[in-house]
Amino acid sequence: MNKSFILSTGSYLPKKTLSNDEIALMVETSDEWIRQRTGITQRHIADEGELTSDLAVNAARNAIEKAQISVDEVGLIIVATTTPDKTFPSCAAIVQNKLKCKNAFAFDVQAACSGFIYAVTVADSLIKANKRIKYALVIGAEIMSRIVDWKDRSTCVLFGDGAGAVIMKSAAHCSEIAENSLRGIISTNLYSGSNIDILCTSGGVSSTGNSGKICMNGREVFKHAVEKLTASIEETLRCNNLKIANIDWLIPHQANIRIIEAVVKKLDFPMEKVANTVDQHANTSAASIPLALDYAIQESKIKPGSLGLLIAIGAGLTWGSVLLRY
Ligand code: ACO
Repeated sequence: MNKSFILSTGSYLPKKTLSNDEIALMVETSDEWIRQRTGITQRHIADEGELTSDLAVNAARNAIEKAQISVDEVGLIIVATTTPDKTFPSCAAIVQNKLKCKNAFAFDVQAACSGFIYAVTVADSLIKANKRIKYALVIGAEIMSRIVDWKDRSTCVLFGDGAGAVIMKSAAHCSEIAENSLRGIISTNLYSGSNIDILCTSGGVSSTGNSGKICMNGREVFKHAVEKLTASIEETLRCNNLKIANIDWLIPHQANIRIIEAVVKKLDFPMEKVANTVDQHANTSAASIPLALDYAIQESKIKPGSLGLLIAIGAGLTWGSVLLRY
């Protein structure tokens, strides 16, 4: 049976940063409170004219360049986002147009902060089912700053903007034996359901005619995040006959360092093997995992042939894991 693997990664962060101290000038909060409760020290904020598709295109170009392929070889584009430029066409179609990527088909996946692992799972399935796809471009891109209520201190301190991308390659198109036999997406598990109200926006196209702003019950989200991320990892290990000690690295959705620490503690997994970008990026929703993955690879924290897990939870609730050998 065919399989896919991650060939390259790329990322893009808007130039402008917003520190905790700067937020403290806007709402009643402090650098100390934000750091202690979340681990966040700053976030990147898109410029006024910058769109989600612009962030996505920059991250995509970075991944395509590292993969040393031409845009004409990309057969599939999936963008995971909750903050698209327009209701339609999809952000992926706009990205395809901007990249002049004429041999691909493109669509968006919306699963909030879990969007990237949903998109990787869909891309992996499509690559297995469709021999025509040699390379898939999978992007997580968000401008969360446009749906944040900047008067609500309980949410505005948490989010940031950015984009991460990966090029996934079909093993059926590999001539290199080592590349074909070792690397690959091994298994994925995805879940959703219940608790639609603990994390949502205050509006939408068919309800209010606008996107609305983020509303959240932080304590409830925290509790579900720790419980569901831990359960998802345990199931992945069970289904693949693995122990936590077999896992070389973990890339969790970067929402809050305390959520990550709680999951890792429950599993008795060393924090040194966990990517931490939440301090610099804050929560970039669907972009957080590909951004953290690219960072960890650039820092040589992920070595070729190593075994790792991507795990996420987001509004819906949606959650799950991707087990892969890099
Ligand atoms: N600055 C100062 N005080 C604040 C702030 C702030 N930015 N925000 C809330 N407070 C106050 C509250 O008003 C409350 O005051 P009170 O005791 O006088 O009523 C106090 O701090 C404690 O509030 P809690 O909500 O209980 O604080 P908690 O320790 O739960 O931390 C937080 C809040 C950081 C949001 C936490 O619940 C959390 O991280 N939850 C997970 C949410 C999350 O990560 N969401 C991201 C999207 S979902 C996802 O990506 C998985």
